[in-house]
Amino acid sequence: MSIVSMINDFLGRVSRLILGGGREALDSQKKKGKLTVRERLDALLDRNSLLETDLFVEHSARDFGMATKHLAGDGVVTGIGRIDDRPVAVFAQDFSVAGGSLGRAHASKITKIMDTARDMQMPLIGINDSGGARIQEGVDSLCGYGEIFFRNTQLSGVVPQLSIILGPCAGGAVYSPALTDFVFVVDRISNMFITGPQVIRTVLGEEISPEDLGGARTHTSITGNAHFFASTEYETFDQVRRLLSFLPSNCSERPPVFPAQQPRQPLTPEIIPDDRRKAYDVKDIIRGLVDASDFLEVHELYARNIVVGFGRLEGRSVGIIANQPKVLAGVLDVDASDKAARFIRFCDAFNIPLLTLVDTPGYLPGVDQEHSGVIRHGAKLLYAYSEATVPKMTVIMRKAYGGAYIAMCSRHLGANFVLAWPSAEIAVMGPEGAANIIFRKEIDDSQNPDVTRSEKIREYEEKFANPYVAAGKGYVDAILLPQDTRAALCTVISVAKNSEHGRVSRRHGNFPV
Ligand code: HXC
Repeated sequence: MSIVSMINDFLGRVSRLILGGGREALDSQKKKGKLTVRERLDALLDRNSLLETDLFVEHSARDFGMATKHLAGDGVVTGIGRIDDRPVAVFAQDFSVAGGSLGRAHASKITKIMDTARDMQMPLIGINDSGGARIQEGVDSLCGYGEIFFRNTQLSGVVPQLSIILGPCAGGAVYSPALTDFVFVVDRISNMFITGPQVIRTVLGEEISPEDLGGARTHTSITGNAHFFASTEYETFDQVRRLLSFLPSNCSERPPVFPAQQPRQPLTPEIIPDDRRKAYDVKDIIRGLVDASDFLEVHELYARNIVVGFGRLEGRSVGIIANQPKVLAGVLDVDASDKAARFIRFCDAFNIPLLTLVDTPGYLPGVDQEHSGVIRHGAKLLYAYSEATVPKMTVIMRKAYGGAYIAMCSRHLGANFVLAWPSAEIAVMGPEGAANIIFRKEIDDSQNPDVTRSEKIREYEEKFANPYVAAGKGYVDAILLPQDTRAALCTVISVAKNSEHGRVSRRHGNFPV
């Protein structure tokens, strides 16, 4: 064959393969309001940066034992590319080819690119759009899933793993995204469930739509299985790129450093309301502290009584964990503890210092919380902070009562710097509760119990509900004003190195259930 014929032969093969399941199948994908697999990768990656691998892996009819059917690329596109000029490994399932179903060759392509991500120490991004295990391949598809789950776990904490759900993701297939660090979903496009509406109807007689059962809103607000909600596929790709800008490519690196920028809305002394029972939006405080007031919130719609996300201080990434007084007064509960603990562990794994902003009345009381296991879930927060060896900075803004004072990265859990504002109230419990217990006899015996109670509450506030007692014992390193806080945090972060002190050698600890 002449060189020209070889080239033509090559180009012919490529143009057939990149059509995936063919024009009709691609059109049907578009009719569902979805991008095709190649449009997705074009939109996600830097222009022309994809080096596709294993395009020529095709499923052969022999494996099926059925009629001949070519499955281009075996229903998944894999390769390496760049995002903002930084390398990433990607795989994207192609629904136009046998519904993106996962068979042996499909899984091998994915595990191969996962191994590349491990060997080359770069983030792994997976786009899921699949009917699940390829039924015709039987146990081979199950083996494929198992090998993916195994690698997800091995890669955890080594390189960031991101899952974008852009179609169905059902059955055991959901466990790969669940094992990754961040899950992105798109309104009316993403669907995730272990058993779908049909099975639920058959087994339990319950009626529910796929969207209500496992759509984007459900997973970002109710289950917490997904971290980022977007209205369109393009928006989700923007979120991915923005998230990666805060992260290092692997656990041995530090996140990229950007030019420092002042916040667009600096903090003022009045940021905390005069009435200490009044709520405020802690995100205003976060935006007053971070560079360019640029805050990327993670899990924005889930457990909104705690806020977690990424910002920068003088160009350096920080992971921020903040109680949200605007939602349930900022109490800690089962979901808030889980959300914060997981975020802390991610930041610690990837060299991202932690900034904790405290204003919480404590753990949410109630039978529901107790029976939901608030003890073990709350313990995860203690565990995650205590285990973390990245620099840890804490600012106590207002309430820090009881167990929540300890849990929100107190010095006792290894915070490197604890700062407090004059409005901080650090005590075993809130003034009302405390006064009712320790002055109960005096209140009951008084001629006017209401007046006596108010007096005792004020007395307690003056004595205990302030930052000076804790600062006097060295539990708080410095008391400063809101408007001076950013400068102090920037100083800390510019000198902070990982603090590995006090670590004992062991295989690993055991995370609470
Ligand atoms: C083989 C599959 C497939 C599968 C879809 N297809 N799912 N082929 N194995 N699992 C094929 C269809 O036969 C069809 O092929 C093409 O993909 C498009 O599918 P449609 O049904 O036409 O598309 P749509 O109407 O959009 O419905 C999509 C769907 C539905 C909701 C995903 O296909 C579906 O319910 N599929 C089965 C889902 C499922 O139960 N998967 C197994 C889960 S068990 P043609 O040739 O007609 O175009 C599992 C275990 C994993 O995953 C355990 C891991 C631990």
